[in-house]
Amino acid sequence: MKLNKSIIVVTGGASGIGKALVRQFSSEGATVIIADINVESAVELGKEVGGLGVFCDVRIEQSIIDLVKVVTEKFYKIDIFCSNAGVLFEELGDATSTRNADWQSSWEVNVMAHVYAARACLPSMISRKKGYFLQIISAAGLLSQIGNSAYSTSKHAAIGFAESLSIGHSDDGIRVSVVCPQYVSTPMLGYTDCQVEGELGEIMSPDEVAKVVISAVLKEEFLILPHPEVEKYFLKKATDYQKWLGGMKKLRRKVLDRSGDLDIKSIIKSL
Ligand SMILES: NC(=O)c1ccc[n+]([C@@H]2O[C@H](COP(=O)([O-])OP(=O)(O)OC[C@H]3O[C@@H](n4cnc5c(N)ncnc54)[C@H](O)[C@@H]3O)[C@@H](O)[C@H]2O)c1
Repeated sequence: MKLNKSIIVVTGGASGIGKALVRQFSSEGATVIIADINVESAVELGKEVGGLGVFCDVRIEQSIIDLVKVVTEKFYKIDIFCSNAGVLFEELGDATSTRNADWQSSWEVNVMAHVYAARACLPSMISRKKGYFLQIISAAGLLSQIGNSAYSTSKHAAIGFAESLSIGHSDDGIRVSVVCPQYVSTPMLGYTDCQVEGELGEIMSPDEVAKVVISAVLKEEFLILPHPEVEKYFLKKATDYQKWLGGMKKLRRKVLDRSGDLDIKSIIKSL
């Protein structure tokens, strides 16, 4: 996959990992369209990188259809559609405690937005025999985020859809990658944009993640793991599911004993 002179859409590109990807794709010579509900920041970033910032609410299929139409009319094609927008809601009690409305939003943003994007882009990509879906998912889609069943469940589903997309459309010239980072210092985790807290060794910066993603996209790798240890955990899960579950239960108890709650920063400190 060549990035120079390509047309790339990044949803949720106004913040965090998306913003870092926008900047690095642009520095590789791509024209980047930043599609976000935070349209002010999207437009500002569009100006900074010589791209375009537009409003899009990925929960709404028509909003993605309109986005694809506007970009295709202006730039004639989309080379990479990067579904990066994602949401994470605090889980306040047991595994069922997330409100139904938040389960629904998790489903819409973390899963259905990927389906809508593929549905809108596939016809023209198939006719060009070329197209790339870059799905920013999470290690929670391969493993599980302790204390967050809505996030983990929706991210598992997003990986399932990406596999189907790849299996079903490889012969049409379509490429798919899933990016599964662990913890990244973004506003989603309560960090100010691009801040890294020195004592949190496990956490990556959005720029570091974007660098790994770009080098893997150039090689068209399906599974992109910015934190290399995720591969080890994933293998453990595949080879001894029971033992892996036991380890996760132990880690959950350790976090609770140490901090009394399961918020993400406490989990990172216990790793
Ligand atoms: N931060 C992490 O530790 C981490 C780890 C693994 C995976 N991820 C995933 O990476 C992706 C980016 O997360 P981030 O940490 O950069 O988050 P972030 O909160 O910094 O940025 C998310 C962006 O998505 C936008 N957005 C939210 N809902 C939207 C909607 N309905 N339509 C359009 N845009 C919308 C927000 O306005 C924001 O600009 C997400 O899919 C997230 O699940 C994050």
